[in-house]
Amino acid sequence: MKIKTLLGCVLAGVLAAGSAFADDPIVIKFSHVVAPDTPKGKGAEMFKKLAEERTHGRVKVEVYPNSQLYKDKEEIEALQLGAVQMLAPSLAKFGPLGVKEFELFDLPYIFGDKRVLRAVTDGPVGVGLFKKLQTKGVTGLAFWDNGFKVMSANKPLHTPDDFRGLKMRIQSSKVLDAQMRALGALPQVLAFSEVYQALQTGVVDGTENPPSNMYTQKMHEVQKYATLSYHGYLGYAVVVNTKFWDGLPADIRADLESAMKDATAYTNDIAQKENDDALAAMKASGKTQIIELTQAEKDAWLKALLPVHREMEARIGADSLREVYDEAAKFGYKF
Ligand code: LMR
Repeated sequence: MKIKTLLGCVLAGVLAAGSAFADDPIVIKFSHVVAPDTPKGKGAEMFKKLAEERTHGRVKVEVYPNSQLYKDKEEIEALQLGAVQMLAPSLAKFGPLGVKEFELFDLPYIFGDKRVLRAVTDGPVGVGLFKKLQTKGVTGLAFWDNGFKVMSANKPLHTPDDFRGLKMRIQSSKVLDAQMRALGALPQVLAFSEVYQALQTGVVDGTENPPSNMYTQKMHEVQKYATLSYHGYLGYAVVVNTKFWDGLPADIRADLESAMKDATAYTNDIAQKENDDALAAMKASGKTQIIELTQAEKDAWLKALLPVHREMEARIGADSLREVYDEAAKFGYKF
């Protein structure tokens, strides 16, 4: 081949590669561990829809639910390595990343209702937590709700005494560990994807989660009782790999920020109904008996669990805890 023709071919190849590169969409792999039919699962799909629409296809969001790609711990490592770009781990799972202060959301009874929660996530505490994430190469984009947790087991759980000696599955949070110990149970950390089987085979005796997670993972089929204790909150931080996010063209990043803002409003709007529907479906299945606590029983739970706040104060930060208490006081909740 003549040298001129060869150069022409190389140039054509370079141009083709350049234009193929320019036309290829930016891919965001969004990995999560729950079912598509949950607040987080639906939120991720809504973000995909809005992000693809608003960037006119310049961004493609691939959502991988149900731990298809990674389990709890691995997904955080994958985010830091850039193998996935976006996650929404529960707030209980940031300890292993080195930001243990997120575990304040796990404190028993810390949020009397979602107004307190929102004031905290939107206020200085939420901003401070996202600042801490930055030091780990991770950028926080939003807080997404699931809901308040119920406790399940194969025996009725009315009072703290009923927990004595039970092996209870928890997420990887020291606050949840302390919570279960305060009830006299033996906490065991397991990845979410392993919980159903662990309950079915008796590796653990019980667990906690909002109804939407219990129902969509069929946990209610292997747990005879679920107590409507609503003793703690489960929510998420939507996070991205900082290098990836900062490297995006500014106009694309702005479109994605607006998609995330609207997907967040949508998720937080549907979360309560998702849980109400899941609880109704658990009841209708007849497979698990739903227990409501009497006032005296609720008081016994509070008495056993509130000391966990003091016990965990140093871990999550006395200042943050004080700020949460101050927000709670504005809505009439006193500790
Ligand atoms: C769990 O592991 O129990 C949940 O946090 C899973 C989730 O992401 O909702």
